[in-house]
Amino acid sequence: MKSVAAFSLGLLSLAGVLPTAAAKSTANGTRFSIDGVTKYFAGTNSYWISFLTNDADVDLAMGNIARSGLKILRVWGFNDVNQRPSGVWYQQLSSSGSQINTGANGLQRLDSVVRSADKNGVKLIIPFVNYWDDYGGMKAYVTAFGGTKETWYTNQRAQEQYRKYIAAVVSRYKSSNAIFAWELGNEPRCKGCNTDVIFKWASETSAYVRSLDPEHMITLGDEGFGIPGQSSYPYGYSEGVDFVKNLGIKDLDFGTFHMYPSSWGVQNSFGPGWIRDHAAACKKAGKPCLLEEYGTTSDHCNQEKPWQQTSRGLHVDGMGGDAFWQWGDRLSSGQTHNDGHTIYYGSTDATCLITDHIRAINAL
Ligand SMILES: *[C@@H]1O[C@H](CO)[C@@H](O)[C@H](O)[C@H]1NC(C)=O
Repeated sequence: MKSVAAFSLGLLSLAGVLPTAAAKSTANGTRFSIDGVTKYFAGTNSYWISFLTNDADVDLAMGNIARSGLKILRVWGFNDVNQRPSGVWYQQLSSSGSQINTGANGLQRLDSVVRSADKNGVKLIIPFVNYWDDYGGMKAYVTAFGGTKETWYTNQRAQEQYRKYIAAVVSRYKSSNAIFAWELGNEPRCKGCNTDVIFKWASETSAYVRSLDPEHMITLGDEGFGIPGQSSYPYGYSEGVDFVKNLGIKDLDFGTFHMYPSSWGVQNSFGPGWIRDHAAACKKAGKPCLLEEYGTTSDHCNQEKPWQQTSRGLHVDGMGGDAFWQWGDRLSSGQTHNDGHTIYYGSTDATCLITDHIRAINAL
């Protein structure tokens, strides 16, 4: 085992020093170009892959994702703590001095994901912070630096440390072709705030990321709330997000939106309209839209198939791709997290929502 690992690591570092062709992921009008190919792309999400402690498991999942024809993978690029756990953590936040963990149980775990993605031709979206409390999130900053999640966006000490963390991650992978895009956060919200709060933060932060890395795309990672069209909750501005206004930010290269009808108190039939309304806004802005998370907790195939059909059908009208939530696999530790939304590799759900979807994309 050890010698095999050392051998493949040797090959990888050799590959790392060879000049690589300028194979990048870019926006091309309202579509994405990956390694010189401009088309509609399918992808998925795996939050847990960034925290695996076994490189073979990372490679197994990444290999299965690539083999399935999925090109974009969104992974967690944060793991914020206030107290150091015994397991994996990326950043410890404290008013008396924060620390970014570049050790074996720190960003070296993310290195493994980037290395494996590079090897398998998979392109990564890496968000820098979580709005939600899982893996620390803005709450870990609030615990260290005070305020609330609503004042996090303007809390100077929180933002200083957030930028230090961004610089640490971006500098690590800025020359990698495995990066699809940097993402400011996972589902940033600012409940009850004027939408200017997130607009201003996203404008300034995206400009900062661009100053560190002019080559890779940058996106917001929001759920797509705040868009004209309907009066239901997701269309409204109560979470402090204005999708259309944010889409106009110069250093954001594409729009993101998510879709969980049952969590949002709307029917699954809400899906196609939600996709069409975002596609139209993206088309108008001349940037691609990525439906970067979507899911249901039951009847995956029948409920989600029409969403995919709508999304890929808009491949020249604003939609650049989609990424379902979430990838499921069987690792050395057993089956990965089943949160009800999971589509397991090799399952009939996977045939319906991955194999059939990709076949239809290839026939576009
Ligand atoms: C953009 O897409 C067009 C086809 O729609 C293609 O001809 C062109 O080469 C693409 N540009 C890049 C930079 O990929």
